[in-house]
Amino acid sequence: MLESISFEELFEHPIEYPDVDYRERLSTLVGLDDKKEQLIKTLGLLVNPHGLTEWIEKHHKGANSVKDIVLRRPPLIVMAGDVGSGKTELAMTIGDAVARQENISVTLLPLSLSTRGDGKVGQMTKLISKAFEYTLERAKKLKGETNKSRGAVILLVDEADALAQSRENEQMHHEDKSGVNAFIRGIDSLGSGKLPAAVIMCTNRPGALDPAVKRRAAEVFYFTRPNEEQRFKALEAPLKELGVDEEDIKELVKLTGETGGRNYGFTYSDLLQRLIPTIILNAYPDEKVSAEMAKKAAKNMLPTPVFKEK
Ligand SMILES: Nc1ncnc2c1ncn2[C@@H]1O[C@H](COP(=O)(O)OP(=O)(O)O)[C@@H](O)[C@H]1O
Ligand SMILES: [Mg+2]
Repeated sequence: MLESISFEELFEHPIEYPDVDYRERLSTLVGLDDKKEQLIKTLGLLVNPHGLTEWIEKHHKGANSVKDIVLRRPPLIVMAGDVGSGKTELAMTIGDAVARQENISVTLLPLSLSTRGDGKVGQMTKLISKAFEYTLERAKKLKGETNKSRGAVILLVDEADALAQSRENEQMHHEDKSGVNAFIRGIDSLGSGKLPAAVIMCTNRPGALDPAVKRRAAEVFYFTRPNEEQRFKALEAPLKELGVDEEDIKELVKLTGETGGRNYGFTYSDLLQRLIPTIILNAYPDEKVSAEMAKKAAKNMLPTPVFKEK
C-alpha cells in the first residue's frame, strides 16, 4: 500500500511562501532572534547559492574556494530540544523569511513521523524514502539554468525522535536503524544534486543524535526553555491586554520558573497554550481577569516534565 503512497497523502499540508499569515506567526515568536537570523542565512544559501556568488563577486572577487566550502555543506538543519520550545513553529514559519530574502517562492513539505507511521516494521523507512523522492523530484524542476534558483523546497521531518537516536545504541530497533539509514541516503541524494532543497529535522532528543546525522548537518540548533526575560516577553503582551500590571507579570515570571522544588520552568507552550487560556477560562464568562487569579492559576499548574532519554 505504501509503495503507492501519493504526494497528497504524504504531505497533507504543503505550505507556499511568501505568505503573510506565516510572516505574522514568525514575528510573534519570542526569544529566538539569533536562531532566526542564522537559520534564514543558512537556508537561504542552501536553497539559493546564487546569493553567495553575488556576494563574493561584490566583496571578495575571485574567492572561489571559499564559495565551495560554504556551498558544499550538506542540506540539513537539525532543531533539537525540549517539547514546546518552538521547534515546529519556527520550522513552519521560517520559509516565509527565506522566500522574502531570496526573492523566490519556497514550498515547505511537512512530514510528521509521529502522526504518520503506525509502527509497522518497515513503514517509517518507506515514509522517509518516499518523502525524499518527492522532494528530489520537485527540486529538480526548480533548479535554474545558472545557479539562481527559480524556487526552492524545504522538507520538514518533524518528530524525528527515532531518527535522531544513535544507531550505535544497542537497544535500537532494527526498523529505527533502517529509518536513520534511509534518512542519511536521502540527505546525500539531495546534496549531491546541488538542488534548491533543504531538510529540517526536528527532534525532542538532543542527547542522542546519531553521529552520522549530526555530521551531515550544516547547523544544529539547540532549543531550551525560556529564561526569566523570555518568559516576561511571552507573558507581557497577553497579560497587559487583560489589565495585569507589570509588577504582577514579574511575579508570574517567578512562579513559572524554577521554583517549588523543581529545577525546570514552564515551556513556551505551557505559558501560551495552557496558562493563558486557563487564566481566561477561570474568569470567563462572568468575571474580569485579575492578577490574583492569574497567580493562582500559575501556582496550580505544573510545567511539562523535561524529556527523559529512555
Ligand atoms: N519561542 C516562542 N515564542 C512564542 N511562542 C512559542 C515559542 N515557542 C513555542 N511557542 C508556542 O508553543 C507552541 C508549541 O511550540 P512548538 O513549536 O510546537 O514546540 P516544539 O515543536 O518545540 O515541541 C507553538 O504553537 C507556539 O504557540
Ligand atoms: Mg514539535
